[in-house]
Amino acid sequence: MRRVSPLKGMRGSCTVPGDKSISHRAALLGALSREGMEISGYAPGEDCGRTLACLDQLGCRVLKEGPRVHVSRGEGIRECREVLYAGNSGTSARLLCGLLAGVPGFFGILAGDASLSSRPMDRVVAPLRSAGARIDGREGGSRLPLSIRGTSLVGGSFTLPVASAQVKTALLLAGLSSQGSVTVTEPSPSRDHTERMLGFLGVPLVREENKITLFPYPELPGAAWEIPGDFSSAAFWIVAAALLPDSELLLEKVGLNPTRTGLLEVLKRMGLRWETEALRESGGEPLGNLRIRTASLEGTRVEASEVPRMVDELPVLAVAATQATGKTEIRGARELRYKECDRIRGMAEGLAALGADIEELEDGWIVTGPTPLHGGSVKTLGDHRVAMALSVAAAIAEGPVDLDDPECVNISYPSFFESLERFAKGSPEA
Ligand code: S3P
Repeated sequence: MRRVSPLKGMRGSCTVPGDKSISHRAALLGALSREGMEISGYAPGEDCGRTLACLDQLGCRVLKEGPRVHVSRGEGIRECREVLYAGNSGTSARLLCGLLAGVPGFFGILAGDASLSSRPMDRVVAPLRSAGARIDGREGGSRLPLSIRGTSLVGGSFTLPVASAQVKTALLLAGLSSQGSVTVTEPSPSRDHTERMLGFLGVPLVREENKITLFPYPELPGAAWEIPGDFSSAAFWIVAAALLPDSELLLEKVGLNPTRTGLLEVLKRMGLRWETEALRESGGEPLGNLRIRTASLEGTRVEASEVPRMVDELPVLAVAATQATGKTEIRGARELRYKECDRIRGMAEGLAALGADIEELEDGWIVTGPTPLHGGSVKTLGDHRVAMALSVAAAIAEGPVDLDDPECVNISYPSFFESLERFAKGSPEA
């Protein structure tokens, strides 16, 4: 249990951990490179640790010294006797499926924790099978554990029923060693880190708005990656600073990839203004400092096409919506039911327990505000983003809020509560 007390305001500056999505990808790309990937600012959470542990088991060379990580092919991917354990990490599990399915001679079993074992894997298994992959598993290959027998894949053209960067990336990773090209088309564009990173490495690919075609390129060159701060982690402080009075917060070196910053666009519509400073690019990814001040927000409507660019930020947007004037309607977000927990239900129950006016929809919420939140007890459902979004709700509440299982923040942001405490003390740096 952890008690989070109301905050008075957010002042000073904050550096968030390295981007989780980019960290996973940099490590996995290292497995396809003799020279390897030198990664600085590798995400400190358990999820990215799982990817490194699996790569180590697979025979890749993994050297880690704090946030500096070097991953290279090593002896090459080999059969492993032990089960590959992805823990809570959907990104590790799905991306590894794509990477391993196309390695002839490989065999392995991929497993996860209870949450991950209940999440859909058919979205990645089905298209990989149609490219020739030999993957089986529980419920016909829809759930972990999965068995993967690597083989030479043929490539192909895939139209995804839902936008998913994990599925897209799994197919692109498989495509690197396929016999022919791979084309992936999405209903709306999901985060494009993989495309940017592969393009930066010189892999031949053609990008159109919702569509990407990649040509085989089995041996990647070495590269150095500087991982920007994770926008999805910054999102908690963005909303907290917007909602708390007299706030002025500088978030430093945050990733500002437009396929990730949909939350800023929605908050802009709601009335937030922000400034960016020290903008630059690193490894094909834009980053910079973001200055956020207190704002007075109006309700808005979020459409399905906007969801992929802010899918992980919707729980904390729901918190913002409780303090916006009028109705905020978030639609087309059914995918949230398949995350680390059912985030639509988790946030509806958590915010309602604190007095919010929130209606759970099949594919989102209707939140009516502004409603002052009161103290109470909430359930994190073992989901890091629900835990942090409800902590922001606690920070703006009138009384303390008890979180039943706060440790789950370690999945992506192990120092989250330390930063929260520093903000509570009014320290200038968190
Ligand atoms: C991720 C993609 C998203 C996101 C997840 C990380 C990635 O999932 O929710 O936290 O790194 O590719 P989907 O691909 O399922 O949309």
